[in-house]
Amino acid sequence: MPDAPHLDPALLRPALSSVQAYVPGRPLADLQRELGDVPITKLASNEGPLPPFPGALRAIADAAACQNLYPDPGAWALRDALGDIHGIDPDRIIVGNGVDSLIKILCMAMLDPGDELVMGWPSFISYRQGAMAQGATVTPVALDTRGAYDLDALAAAVGPRTRIVAVVSPNNPTGAAVDPRALARFVDALPSHVLPVVDEAYAEYLPDGSHDAVAMVREGRRLVAMRTFSKAYGLAGLRIGWMAGPVGMAESLAPVRNAFDVNAVAQAAALASLDDAAAELPARVAMARTERDRMARGLRDLGLDPLPSDANFVFVDVGPERAAELDRALTAHGVIVRPTAGFGAPGGLRMTAGTPEQTDRLLAVMRTALEGAP
Ligand SMILES: Cc1ncc(COP(=O)(O)O)c(C=O)c1O
Repeated sequence: MPDAPHLDPALLRPALSSVQAYVPGRPLADLQRELGDVPITKLASNEGPLPPFPGALRAIADAAACQNLYPDPGAWALRDALGDIHGIDPDRIIVGNGVDSLIKILCMAMLDPGDELVMGWPSFISYRQGAMAQGATVTPVALDTRGAYDLDALAAAVGPRTRIVAVVSPNNPTGAAVDPRALARFVDALPSHVLPVVDEAYAEYLPDGSHDAVAMVREGRRLVAMRTFSKAYGLAGLRIGWMAGPVGMAESLAPVRNAFDVNAVAQAAALASLDDAAAELPARVAMARTERDRMARGLRDLGLDPLPSDANFVFVDVGPERAAELDRALTAHGVIVRPTAGFGAPGGLRMTAGTPEQTDRLLAVMRTALEGAP
């Protein structure tokens, strides 16, 4: 075989050289291969721990037979259903291949080299990647003492070239949410050359009385609200999320969207999940909150100091070396968590709330790991 040719890096846009690629949690099958029969517990990606809703499973099976056809590029049925549920004109809703892809679409459409995206940090890396890949500047703003976005500091960081200001709430990886009244004031006070994007990937886990960016869109505020089916709805594998925003958003973003970016199985599963939501969501959300709090208490009993969380995960800020050490020890026992950029200091562990059995296993293995740690 002749040597395969390499891609010449000089062919790539210079902006890409400074973009950090997303590092996913270790795939379950990969660790299973390495550890043999050891049971694997994956608590690394904030997925729901249970299978899709029963109606979604049926819809997935039914949709299988039509996969010779391209999907509905407009995701009409799903947008109509979301519009009905949330009282928003479906024309103001875009369905995408996960929120991740919607973030990239917004960045592609809105950011030129020299433009700016302002966001809290540490936070969800996709905003940073999307902006930097455009050659735009990312201005990171420190979180508040709870680990939530500091909206005053965020507003103060907005400048003449800012085009997007992202608010991730509850924040990933820290778990804290912003105050709803402060969020409304923040959105109202932003200058018209900046579009606020409120990422509510973990909305379903928020306590009563928290913010609801989709309702803010409905009430006439100028912002984009992001939601996903990947977490509480248990459809992470199918990649489907949506956003609601200003009138004209769908037409404006159309040139940078892939024609068929949301597959038909995902659309059918998401639609069926909405029908099942009243029956399925409450118990799943309740389990996530219970296990999150039990995990936090257990970690505290082990001498760690988890941050309070409004999402389906818990973050402990242990510093980079200890995070890497604990991650190695947990992985060796078949538990996958997420070492991640820390809160204040760079380095901590983020752990997803799963089933009661998964919490028991995490805590047992964490105890062993801590006993083995210097
Ligand atoms: C804050 C936040 N936004 C978006 C996403 C990605 O969502 P999706 O699976 O819809 O791409 C995640 C996933 O972890 C997240 O934490």
